[in-house]
Amino acid sequence: MNTQPIGIFDSGVGGTSIWKAIHALLPFENTIYLADSKNAPYGQKTKEEIIDLCIKNTDLLLSKGCKLVVVACNTATTNAISYLRNNYDIPFIGIEPAIKPAALNSGSGRVGILATKGTLSSSLFLKTSKDHASEITIVEQEGLGLVPLIEAGEINADETRQLLIKYLEPMLSANVDHIVLGCTHYPYLIPVLRELLPPGVKVIDCGAAVARQTKVVLEDNQMQNFSKTPGKIEFYTNKDTRILTSFLEDVDQLKQIEYLNF
Ligand code: DGL
Repeated sequence: MNTQPIGIFDSGVGGTSIWKAIHALLPFENTIYLADSKNAPYGQKTKEEIIDLCIKNTDLLLSKGCKLVVVACNTATTNAISYLRNNYDIPFIGIEPAIKPAALNSGSGRVGILATKGTLSSSLFLKTSKDHASEITIVEQEGLGLVPLIEAGEINADETRQLLIKYLEPMLSANVDHIVLGCTHYPYLIPVLRELLPPGVKVIDCGAAVARQTKVVLEDNQMQNFSKTPGKIEFYTNKDTRILTSFLEDVDQLKQIEYLNF
């Protein structure tokens, strides 16, 4: 059981930001990553469509022997994690916008959140906001169009920058001091965001927290891989391997990146 891989999926390349955090913390674990780029963006889909896509991705990861699945997508987590936990017999780790730490650390009492429509309209997001941020003002902003641009590798394009300027404006006018990145694609925009934001505004991304939670869940379930050799790394995309490869250029270790029709 313990040498079985950790499965990770996202609607595309964004979840590689989570994979990197997991691999940095758990380098001896074998990992399999699915980039469902053919079906991106998930953010505009209905809850039922998102659940169906999560079932497809989970079944594929299980057919490859995964012992645990990380849903490296806020939209998929907020819409489908309860379904997955209720219907499969393995542990699932999800990612949700980090409203709680932002609310706790905010001095202005105003926090911005940039996420997809699917995440912002989910009942899990509404509940988390109510439970952890009822005392502060949350300025919600849908990042419409950002995921397709990132999926196309257009991180530094003028169109991306213009969209960010437009989306940051209402948050900055409301004097937010934290901006929560509620989509795993968005950490790749941090260099551009830093150029556009005043220095006092903190950007919150919770990739490292997801990695720590993955470690805890592995330990609680006695599923850790005690091997002392670097884990085997497999990436699969159902779209363009070149784009996925470009998001993994900073990964030195030997990795397999393949096209798979799923
Ligand atoms: N990475 C996904 C997320 O965290 C992107 C959503 C999408 O495909 O629209 O929400």
